[in-house]
Amino acid sequence: MTGWAIRPFTWGAATSAFQIEGARNEGGKADSIWDRFSDLGRMATGGERACDHYHRWEEDLDLLADLGVGGYRFSVAWARVLPDGDGEVNPQGLAFYRRLVEGMVDRDIQPFLTLYHWDLPQALQDRGGWSNREITESFAGYARVLVDGFGDVVKDWITINEPWVASFLGHMEGVFAPGIQDWPTALRAAHHMLLAHGRATSLIKEADPQARVGIAIDCRPAKPASSDEADVDATRHFDGFRNRWFFDPVFGRGYPADMVGSYARMGRIDGLNPDFVVDGDLETIAAPLDFLGLNYYTTTEVSAGFEETDAPLRPPGPDQPDDTTEMGWLIDPDGLRDYLMYLTERYEPASIMITENGASYSTGPGPSGEVDDVKRIGYLDSHIGAVLEAIDRGAPVDGYFVWSLLDNLEWVAGFSQRFGLVWVDFDTMERIPKRSFYWYRDRITGI
Ligand code: FCB
Repeated sequence: MTGWAIRPFTWGAATSAFQIEGARNEGGKADSIWDRFSDLGRMATGGERACDHYHRWEEDLDLLADLGVGGYRFSVAWARVLPDGDGEVNPQGLAFYRRLVEGMVDRDIQPFLTLYHWDLPQALQDRGGWSNREITESFAGYARVLVDGFGDVVKDWITINEPWVASFLGHMEGVFAPGIQDWPTALRAAHHMLLAHGRATSLIKEADPQARVGIAIDCRPAKPASSDEADVDATRHFDGFRNRWFFDPVFGRGYPADMVGSYARMGRIDGLNPDFVVDGDLETIAAPLDFLGLNYYTTTEVSAGFEETDAPLRPPGPDQPDDTTEMGWLIDPDGLRDYLMYLTERYEPASIMITENGASYSTGPGPSGEVDDVKRIGYLDSHIGAVLEAIDRGAPVDGYFVWSLLDNLEWVAGFSQRFGLVWVDFDTMERIPKRSFYWYRDRITGI
């Protein structure tokens, strides 16, 4: 392995379309499952306006340039480009993203384009969404439209963001769009997301041999509450459910046998050869990755009798102990370092990009107008330190993207959870760089 000093390292920031764009019905965009979810009253705030990035994208790109990042991870709203999910392309949608990626290049910022950050066109949900295998065909068509439209300027592609969240929170717990609560549907949806990822990976690389393609997997490292066998066994199950179910097939190991056995016994899949896995699927899913995208926020301690859920340690809210962010998530930078070492050893990825890492704190402008978000600085500092330690120990990490550039629409939590380096006043849409913005700028430019 080459040392990190001679591998180029990308410092960046990340956002996603639904969380910042707004313009729900403008420019020919159709509804996504999140628009529908908010119409059903399932969100604190809908996506009508979000950060109004659709109209303020130039100002936001200027902020990125001022931040000094080399890369910007953003996502395309599928329903803006293909309102029906497949079929007719919406030229206005394509033109919006064309301006955006060219705007990045003009500012010397490398675009990292995420194809799917959860905002499935509602038209596809009406045909079964991720539970219908045909969606992999639609996703391949969508990938083709994007690579044809932007392949000359976009070289870094992320297929699917956080397949665990999109499949399990959306189809098993039902707390995220499309709000389904059914185990077999969740496992089927997860499989189709992985399959869509594999197909798109091969397709993009065939279309552009210079393209680099990855997937952004959310990890939730777990440790047992005690050395009791029951806690250790529960931790193995939690890790299988939350992590290995995704990492293993993507890295060519197929679905973990212990979990297939458990799910079959629990009646969540129909036997040891689930009917949604067709011959050749596992090979497709294991398409070689140019980089593994890793989203990391926190770790979990597991005891026997745990629930299969992603519920935070503590209820979200502003009053938290020092070791917890306002999402109720435990702060554990060592967990990131250790997980990077574990991934490096177990899967031997060619390259890892930290595609998301960050913290929610509601700190707002003080009397002088400045946003003194020292807790966010502490979080970022310790996690960046953990990444550098892992690199020293041999983890092939080639980039780090803060979540997020802007305070934005945090899914069902609405505007109550602020992850931005930039404060957004959701009434006036004014943007104010926080102290963490300047801190990150100095950190990454080596000042
Ligand atoms: C991740 C999502 C991202 C954001 C952060 C806080 O799960 O990918 O959109 O909501 O959490």
